[in-house]
Amino acid sequence: MKTFTPSEITHELRRLIGTRRVVAIIDEKVDRLHGTLFPFEKIVIEATEERKTLATAEEIVHQLLHLHADRDTLLLGIGGGITTDLCGFVAAIYKRGVPFGFIPTTLLAMVDAAIGGKNGVNVLNFKNMIGTIRQPEFVLTCPNLLRTLPPKEFRNGVAEMLKTFIISGQNFGESGSFFAENELDTIFCTEAKMAQLCHFITESRAVKERIVKEDEQEQGLRRLLNLGHTFAHALEHCAKISHGEAVSIGIVCAAKNGHCKDIDLIVNTLKQCNLPTEIPADIDKKMLLEAISQDKKIAEGRCNLIVIHAIGDVRIIPTAPGAILC
Ligand SMILES: NC(=O)c1ccc[n+]([C@@H]2O[C@H](COP(=O)([O-])OP(=O)(O)OC[C@H]3O[C@@H](n4cnc5c(N)ncnc54)[C@H](O)[C@@H]3O)[C@@H](O)[C@H]2O)c1
Ligand SMILES: [Zn+2]
Repeated sequence: MKTFTPSEITHELRRLIGTRRVVAIIDEKVDRLHGTLFPFEKIVIEATEERKTLATAEEIVHQLLHLHADRDTLLLGIGGGITTDLCGFVAAIYKRGVPFGFIPTTLLAMVDAAIGGKNGVNVLNFKNMIGTIRQPEFVLTCPNLLRTLPPKEFRNGVAEMLKTFIISGQNFGESGSFFAENELDTIFCTEAKMAQLCHFITESRAVKERIVKEDEQEQGLRRLLNLGHTFAHALEHCAKISHGEAVSIGIVCAAKNGHCKDIDLIVNTLKQCNLPTEIPADIDKKMLLEAISQDKKIAEGRCNLIVIHAIGDVRIIPTAPGAILC
């Protein structure tokens, strides 16, 4: 996978799109900050979880009809995971499916949300309850777009990236040290650091792509990508905490449950990257365990827990809710 500079991205987009008509579905914040890079017809959306709904998908469909978008029109999702999810979902259902591509603008979307073809919307309080699995024609990564990303959003991406490297067993220590030593703004100051960032994005994305290629429909291997997420979703349910922070704590819980031999390295690396590793003191653990056992991964009274035995050795273990350590 290649990463692109802003000037290269215009050229590359022209090559990929050819003579086709494009309608961009773009996050309003991204449009304000980087919109001039993307001179297309646009549907501008407000990227919040509350607006990642069927109602917003329907509004986008109305706008596409208003623009007379036809079945050959390419939808281009430009934004973080909320935007790429909405774009991919609408592209799958509009006129029974139109082509689509993504330009992710958050670290999390570059390595996770825009990769793998799963796209969904929230229903009531349930995240990604309705969705489709359909691969985009392309995902263009331009790390320069991350210059404007708030540090908290950057850290969310770092947490998912470290999760991916624990699964693959490669790049965990190196990327951990890099993100511990370099704040987002310093990375953009030197070419060598930018090159490092591009390297880790490419590697992390490649792990997800490899796993998805083997198990697109999440029958087995792909489930590993949910590492830390059973705990993370429960934590997000119980406390006001960002997804990346919840994933970080979830990773540590997964390591405890796997009696992981690398737990100290994992905890120290997460801490150095400014990510939390302990369940906040004000969370009632009983409530947390209840939320975990309500997770969708429960089957026959057991929770399919993804645990870490060692970096590079992550397994799915059916576990009774009473036996879960957190
Ligand atoms: N489809 C999948 O496989 C998958 C995987 C993981 C996550 N997701 C979904 O992704 C979503 C989270 O994605 P996210 O973290 O990218 O969130 P997001 O889309 O909400 O973006 C985070 C914030 O950053 C802002 N932003 C985006 N790009 C920016 C930029 N370049 N500069 C400044 N600000 C910018 C956005 O406006 C938003 O406020 C969730 O809804 C989650 O369910 C989907
Ligand atoms: Zn996640």
